[in-house]
Amino acid sequence: MTKRKPIVGMSLKMYHNLLKKAADFAENINQLVGEEEEIEQFLFPGMGTLYPVSLKLKGSMIGFGSQNIAPAANGAYTGEFSIESLVDMGGSYVEIGHSERRSLFHETDEMIADKVQLTIESGLIPVLCIGEPKESTNFEWIKSFLENQLSMDLQKIAKEKLKTVIIAYEPVWAIGAANAASAEHVAKIHTLIRESLSNLFGTEAAEKMRIIYGGSVSKDNVSAIVLNENVDGVFVGRFGHDPKNYQAIVESVKTIKK
Ligand code: PGA
Repeated sequence: MTKRKPIVGMSLKMYHNLLKKAADFAENINQLVGEEEEIEQFLFPGMGTLYPVSLKLKGSMIGFGSQNIAPAANGAYTGEFSIESLVDMGGSYVEIGHSERRSLFHETDEMIADKVQLTIESGLIPVLCIGEPKESTNFEWIKSFLENQLSMDLQKIAKEKLKTVIIAYEPVWAIGAANAASAEHVAKIHTLIRESLSNLFGTEAAEKMRIIYGGSVSKDNVSAIVLNENVDGVFVGRFGHDPKNYQAIVESVKTIKK
């Protein structure tokens, strides 16, 4: 079986918008788990706080990145954020296709495919978010919905480059909710996603790609969620805003994935 490094990623969305608040958060988690080598960690601060956060995480084992990039590296894209700035700050990850971007800002799969391609070409790691819009037990429907997103969003990437891509499975109905999807649901869907990746791009790529779960992950539900071998980690939102809770999540993933 292929060994994949477990992941804990986190997005601050647009919650911590003051420079000091975001930088303090980064400093706090850095003090708590910034030397952890067994878990790959990354933080997506709010876009306006990226630079001060980057200064706090320099030299740390916690990577950072942006929650979005423009589909082109530079040019006439008023109001957008360039991957060139992220590279200059030392960032390594780009979050692409989050459901809030897809629904509130009308991002299309075509645009998302361009962003994934630009990220790979720039030598950074895309964290591609996919997820079905409605809660359902029709697994055939969920599988075909997600497989369609994967085939469209990864269409511009050569097979041999796919291994660096991280897939974040984020069922839209579990984002911002009281509870995460059940561990059984997550296990089932991650297994189906790996099957889809294998159908689309071959077993070798599928075995190397990490698939993480996001949507109301907390210190209380994380251990059950990452038990399945196809769940390579988690993508944390609100329930990581307290640095101690974030630390607890990292430590739980480490314990389960040992
Ligand atoms: P949440 O956010 O944990 O606050 O639901 C998760 C996400 O959208 O990635």
